Amino acid sequence: MKRHLTAVPDHLAIIMDGNGRWATQRGRPRWMGHVRGAQTVRKVVTHCARRGVGQLTLYAFSSDNWKRPQEEVKLLFELFATHLDRQLPELISNDIRLTVIGRRDRLPSALAERINAAEARTHSCRRMHLRVAIDYSSRTAIQTAATSGALERAMPDRSDATGAGILPSVDMVLRTGGERRLSDFLLWESAYAELAFLDVNFPDLTAADLDTVFADYAARDRRFGGVQVVDQLIKESA
Ligand code: FPP
Repeated sequence: MKRHLTAVPDHLAIIMDGNGRWATQRGRPRWMGHVRGAQTVRKVVTHCARRGVGQLTLYAFSSDNWKRPQEEVKLLFELFATHLDRQLPELISNDIRLTVIGRRDRLPSALAERINAAEARTHSCRRMHLRVAIDYSSRTAIQTAATSGALERAMPDRSDATGAGILPSVDMVLRTGGERRLSDFLLWESAYAELAFLDVNFPDLTAADLDTVFADYAARDRRFGGVQVVDQLIKESA
């Protein structure tokens, strides 16, 4: 088996953008972009697990996405439910834990039940932690954590006010679809994240694109406000 030597982000977060454009560029209805996007999710999950990503957080539906036409929202929820059912055996056999972040009280009950079941069935999986953000708003999560006192307990450098909607620190945020913004996604957790933006629409994202992003990540000099390791060595040997 070919070994992969590039350092990968331990926690990768992806803003899956460009589904609608993928479809309209082909003269197809927007929902087809979401259907293709869902197929890409499966490939992305498999590839990230294979490459050794520890945590993968996917932005599937932001709290602002409620502004979309009702039909589109309905289709997205149906797609999430279908894919949860379809991909659950594969997640379990690949030892991947699934959790969903965001508000659950506004989701259709059939979807919420499937999410609960999938979380319970993958609870002890350890190879990779896949999180899907549905009805998620980072500002709301931060507000909730702040009012519950969880932010005060969190280490500022580790961001793990866990249990209060704040996740472990993100190492890299990747956004597809050409836009260069964070759109209310993991704002607290991305304090020191490396950012990557691809002009590829999400349905077209390939394993090779991800490897390019990982190579880019491996070449970044992450200093967390400190100095470059080489500068430090020169200083110490002087
Ligand atoms: C953004 O593209 C994408 C979404 C709001 C939905 C993401 C959903 C999927 C990738 C499909 C299913 C996911 C799972 C977890 C099974 P957009 O519609 O904003 O595209 P546009 O900017 O081109 O209009």
